[in-house]
Amino acid sequence: MDRIRIKGGRQLKGEIRISGSKNASLPLMVAALLSDKPLTLHNVPRLADITTMIQLLQQHGVEVSAAAGENGHAHGTTLVLRAEKIVSTTAPYDIVRKMRASVLVLGALLTREREARVSLPGGCAIGARPVDLHIAGLKAMGAEIDIDGGYLVAKAPGGLRGARYTFPKVSVGATENLMMAAALAKGTTVLDNAAREPEITDLAHCLIALGVPVDGVGTETLTIEGVPALKAAEHSVIPDRIETGTYAMAVAMTAGDVELVGGRLDLIETAAQTLRAAGVSLEPTARGVRVQRTNGALRGVDVMTEPYPGFPTDLQAQMMALMTRAEGAAMITETVFESRFMHVPELSRMGANVTIHHESALVRGVPKLRGAEVMATDLRASVSLAIAGLAAEGHTTVNRVYHLDRGYERLEEKLGACGADIERLKG
Ligand code: EPZ
Repeated sequence: MDRIRIKGGRQLKGEIRISGSKNASLPLMVAALLSDKPLTLHNVPRLADITTMIQLLQQHGVEVSAAAGENGHAHGTTLVLRAEKIVSTTAPYDIVRKMRASVLVLGALLTREREARVSLPGGCAIGARPVDLHIAGLKAMGAEIDIDGGYLVAKAPGGLRGARYTFPKVSVGATENLMMAAALAKGTTVLDNAAREPEITDLAHCLIALGVPVDGVGTETLTIEGVPALKAAEHSVIPDRIETGTYAMAVAMTAGDVELVGGRLDLIETAAQTLRAAGVSLEPTARGVRVQRTNGALRGVDVMTEPYPGFPTDLQAQMMALMTRAEGAAMITETVFESRFMHVPELSRMGANVTIHHESALVRGVPKLRGAEVMATDLRASVSLAIAGLAAEGHTTVNRVYHLDRGYERLEEKLGACGADIERLKG
């Protein structure tokens, strides 16, 4: 298994190109299941999760062809996905267990084929992550759903019908599933307390391009008019806001100065405000965002994760890594997932001072971190260890790099080009 080895102490300087968003690309690819016409997606990142989604869609009958994007082979891919005929309505355990986002095919298959069998994903490293809201929403649209042999078995013999559904809790995946189900349902669907993440807005724009009227884009109430069939469409994936925030924190950690090319400050407002409060400068440029910490120490700031537009849970571990070196203390509270602190014991092994109390972690800044052999079981936790390694004395080896490869395109190349001493050890 590959590992990443980092020798800490180098400042990051230069530029990093931000890839297309993983979490926007996955539902956008699933949207291809809704139509027998082609969907062309530009700026799809080259990541293991994208490959897994391609495999899942192919076994449902989607033809997928990939070409290098406008920027040549190095940056992003254009995918053409065409689901002329659905050959299987089953999403098998073998694929779903590798990637929870597979459950997104449920709504699209059910609305198009009137049936779907999707393996239940089970728990994962960051929490139990149930799918009850996906099920309740689809039932409100007329689906019958049972659990059999570890599979969700869904049927809608007369087709799904539009409904009004209020999410009892904000869920990104359930909102996406219901938006896609609504696209081919009879009548109008109104989703209240819908997630407002930029990835949801990107899916809404793509559905509109496919010929589905969607109202209330960017708000907590989405209104979707079902249509009998969708058109062909072309769509460009938004830049990855979590990758943008991650590199901003890496730059801050090394007191560096880097332009995040293609990054969008408007997608990371809350994280940017938090970083500024910690003493980091983030400014828009013609090509993206410039991040600098050229003078002064980092200050401890409190953070609470919340659904968008709040501070993203997907940047919590990286922010904690940064706070381990701040002056003063930072209280980091995780409200989205119940057990997303697996990075804490690993950061502690590098000399961090962190105490967990229920859903909060008190981080007291330390004058230095020391490199160590570390690992994590979630991609954001893994990258937080790499960030800590950039500022640690000596070598840090991050094991289980396949987690990083799920969500960060060419991490070692991007950091290496800015001066980090980082290498991938094969095997
Ligand atoms: C998406 O997961 C992202 N994944 C996650 O990113 C991200 O952390 C999360 O949204 C929150 O922003 C993708 O987009 C592929 P949720 P999702 O449904 O949709 C509970 C990463 O690192 N819940 O918004 O699965 C759930 O347990 C990943 O890239 C229910 O209770 O998240 C959680 O506590 C990790 N019942 C909360 O809601 C349900 O039916 C939010 O989950 C669904 C969710």
